[in-house]
Order: sequence, then C-alpha cells, then structure tokens
Amino acid sequence: MNGLFITFEGGEGAGKSTQIARLADRLRTEGRDVVTTREPGGSPGAEAIRHVILSGAAERGGVRLEALLFAAARNDHLEQLIRPALRAGKIVLCDRFVDSSRVYQGAGGGLDPAFLKALEHVTIGATMPDLTIILDIDPVEGLRRADIRRGTASADRFEKERLEVHARRRASYLDIAAHEPDRCKVIDASRPADDIAADIFALVESRLAESETRVQEDALVN
Ligand code: TYD
Repeated sequence: MNGLFITFEGGEGAGKSTQIARLADRLRTEGRDVVTTREPGGSPGAEAIRHVILSGAAERGGVRLEALLFAAARNDHLEQLIRPALRAGKIVLCDRFVDSSRVYQGAGGGLDPAFLKALEHVTIGATMPDLTIILDIDPVEGLRRADIRRGTASADRFEKERLEVHARRRASYLDIAAHEPDRCKVIDASRPADDIAADIFALVESRLAESETRVQEDALVN
C-alpha cells in the first residue's frame, strides 16, 4: 500500500474533528490527496451499523455483541474505503479506529482481551495505522467541552457515562501509547488549537518524509 493511514483517538471533547479538518486542509494546500473518514461508519454499510450501535439498540446484547458490530463496521469500512484509498496512494485521516475498540470495549467494557485480539486479526489484518494521534485531555475539561459542543442536542449513550469511566479510558489510551510508541503519539489537547495543529502537522510531515524515502529506496532496489 502506497498511501499513509493516520488515525485520531481520544475521549469526548478532545477536539479530534477540528484537528482532522485542519490537517486535511493543510495537506490539501500542499497538493496532497487526502480522504477524511470516521468510525463507526465511513462506508454505507458501516454507517448503517453505526446507527444500530449509537441508538443503543444493541446495548442489551452486551459488550461482546457491540464489539462484533464495531468490527463488522470496520471490516466494511476497510474494504470499501480505506484499503482502496491507500492502494491509490492517498492519505487517509480516520476519526477513531481499532484503539477505540481496545479502550471502550476492552479496558472500559471488560471484554476478554483474547476475543478482542481475534477480532482485530480477522478485520484489520495487516492494515494497522502508520500513525495514531492520541489527543489527550483531562476528562473534566473534555466533558465540559463536549457539553458546550452538544448544546441542546441529546447525548448518545456513550457520552452519558460517568467521569471515572472517562478517566479509565484516558489511562487506557496512554497505556496503548506506552506499548506502541512508534505508532502512537500523545498530544496534549488542553492547549490552544493552533499549537495542537502545529504539533500534529510536524508529526505527519516527518511520517510522510519517512515513507517517501522508503518508496525511493524500494525503487532503487528494484
Ligand atoms: P461519535 O459520535 O462518533 O463520537 P466522538 O465524537 O466521540 O468520536 O460516537 C462514537 C462512539 O462510539 C464514541 O463514544 C466511541 C464509541 N466507539 C467504541 O466504543 N468502539 C469503537 O470501536 C469505536 C470506533 C467507537
């Protein structure tokens, strides 16, 4: 695959969508081909599953069923959108991906780690992100921002969960980053949006330079 796969992770109110939009704009200004997408969703089949999950319709089925639904959505998203875009050499920016399942259904939902790992294996295979930006924020501040953003809109069932659950998720993201420091970069999301955007852009530029060097080296060898 020639493209670059970048995922964004973090709790509620971390500012993922703002930062994805800013990064996409900046990369497009440089003439790069960028696709922005999100999970759960990103393809027609996955968007249909998203509706089932976020409406709470599957909640009674328990965390195992939810994890299967997220994985089914991810499978469709990968096949229909992500892999074709990467094959075409595009940069894919995805709002949430596999780490959300690890954090929300795994650490936060108590799902058996072996089950989660097996699901990852069958859905993702080798298509792990090249770079994962973890936007880290204190849950108190994150939830405050999420409330402001939501305004009068009703909260989905995940956003209604308690503060301690959010704190556990934050710790779980940091734990993933500690285990996969090359793929995962933690960004302090409590700072001004301009500073966060600048840090993210620098990380992405260096990943792009690395992958361009690799492509040139491969061309020399072949
Ligand atoms: P969304 O409205 O897209 O939330 P956000 O703006 O926080 O990204 O809702 C997605 C919710 O689904 C979010 O609370 C995280 C949760 N989720 C999981 O529990 N597991 C997953 O694998 C994914 C992708 C999302």
